[in-house]
Amino acid sequence: ISLKKYNTFGIDVRAGYFTSVSDTAELLAIIKDPAYPERFILGGGSNILLTRDLETLVIHMKIKGITVLQEDENQVLLRAGAGENWHDFVLWTLDRSYGGLENLSLIPGNVGTAPIQNIGAYGVELKDVFESCEAIKISSGKHRIFTHQDCRFGYRDSVFKQEAKGKYIITGVTFRLTKKDHRLHTGYGAIRDLLKERGIETPTVRDVSDAVISIRKSKLPDPAEIGNSGSFFKNPVITVTDYEKLQAVYSEIPAYPISESHTKVPAGWLIEQCGFKGKRYGDAGVHAKQALVLVNYGNASGKDIWKLAEMIRAAVKSKFGISLEPEVNVL
Ligand code: EPU
Repeated sequence: ISLKKYNTFGIDVRAGYFTSVSDTAELLAIIKDPAYPERFILGGGSNILLTRDLETLVIHMKIKGITVLQEDENQVLLRAGAGENWHDFVLWTLDRSYGGLENLSLIPGNVGTAPIQNIGAYGVELKDVFESCEAIKISSGKHRIFTHQDCRFGYRDSVFKQEAKGKYIITGVTFRLTKKDHRLHTGYGAIRDLLKERGIETPTVRDVSDAVISIRKSKLPDPAEIGNSGSFFKNPVITVTDYEKLQAVYSEIPAYPISESHTKVPAGWLIEQCGFKGKRYGDAGVHAKQALVLVNYGNASGKDIWKLAEMIRAAVKSKFGISLEPEVNVL
């Protein structure tokens, strides 16, 4: 079957075998089936670039369900199935005025893949609200709970992109959210400006979410209209010494200091400086409002997108001496 509608880039590759699983029993049965020694786990398909057909079995995760595990007057502990759509889950929590996920509104993908890359936006990362997750070890079929510490979250990084890569299937995630005294993160310039423009002085979690949704809609393409995977590259971290050398040449280069010795530089700026913003090569292109987002205008292949990505990497490397690392998983 074609995987075009199962990846937000809209890449038309084929899977030799495809199945959906709705609960852990089904998942266990399929991973123990000797007929399929290898498999590929597909969540929301929002962080992947498929460059070839998959001969292996593709397992589409559809484990649903949202459960309140524990609550008191201040906090709630919620578990969501890996196959829940991320934004639908965020809306579910906002309907109940729970705080914690508002800045992470409208991120494409599913609950189960959110911990893998520690999704983040507008000053909040998944790790800030994450309690634990449940997973199944593929080789043994055993259940395992990963605590916050076990996950070793970093910027767009976790144990699931390192040692545990490809070894576990996340089946559910537990979050700790607030019911009152929400810790709102409205410091991000665009959020602050929008709330002010809307005349909101004491924002609710819903107000913050609405602002985030407006900002995202204004610069990020909707995957339902134009295929994309959000930011294609990570924002590179460089030493302050290297940053100062660049600043001597490019005085307006932005920076987000992360420690005394290191700073993050927005990859979107580097790519725009290399002249790629809004450029189109066949059906592969660079989004006109956010140079960090690569897009598929219709029939680009995964290889077309990857070729463009390589061209961008080479240009940024030669102009700034910085190597960009993909944020999406390239297969
Ligand atoms: N910029 C440009 N030109 C561009 C794009 C960006 O000059 O075309 C510069 C500007 O200076 C701008 C700055 O980059 O102020 C930051 O841009 P933006 O606020 O759009 O954020 P970003 O650093 O490009 C990151 C995340 C996004 C997240 C936003 C907001 C990564 C790889 N990306 O992007 O996450 O939504 O911050 O917090 O960290 C994603 O991971 O898929 C994603 C969309």
